[in-house]
Amino acid sequence: MRIAPFAIAACLAITSGCGGPETSQANNAQANISNDSRDVNQAASNLEARLSLGNATKVMHERHEGMETIGKNFKALHRELGGPSPDLGVVRASATTINQLASKASGWFPEGTGPEVGKTGAKPEIWQPQNKADFALKLRNFQDAAQRFSAAAAGNDPNAAKARFADLGGACKACHDKYRSEMHH
Ligand code: HEC
Repeated sequence: MRIAPFAIAACLAITSGCGGPETSQANNAQANISNDSRDVNQAASNLEARLSLGNATKVMHERHEGMETIGKNFKALHRELGGPSPDLGVVRASATTINQLASKASGWFPEGTGPEVGKTGAKPEIWQPQNKADFALKLRNFQDAAQRFSAAAAGNDPNAAKARFADLGGACKACHDKYRSEMHH
């Protein structure tokens, strides 16, 4: 065998494209040249991967904070609307907050923000091809419900607001039941 040490190192450095022991010295020299450009490409795509991981983390953080805020407001609404004399100021403010966050939620579930990249209660099923339409529909139903509840809360009929609030709760549950896993913080 006439494989020089540098050629062996090159073979270890890349995962494909290395010949067997019979590979000639000339081929190895050529492989080394293309390895150089591969190294550059590899470095570039590593950087890209790191940048998009940073973006994923950012989105996941925003999603978590958003859902937490939605949850807090939902609880306040539950308290008010379940009590004998709902504070309409609180109800309207919380309804508006949820409605605004609901429209932002369209940007909270890009591909690559599941459990494969970090701790999250978002199930991988969200991004499975057979569930994409269903997930989009559940998100849409939630946005519609938040909009309708917010409109009802702006009026003066607590019973109408209560009915729309129940619909909203159903929209949360429909998505959570299928696409959210229990996380233990
Ligand atoms: C379209 C799907 C969907 C809808 C609709 C939805 N959620 Fe969520 N929710 C999720 C997912 C997925 C998570 C987990 C997010 C994560 O951990 O990254 C979550 C998490 C949460 C959390 C915990 C915080 C967290 O990030 O783990 C709360 C609280 C919450 N949701 C409340 C609500 C409420 C209240 C509603 C309705 C007013 C609602 N959600 C509607 C999918 C949804």
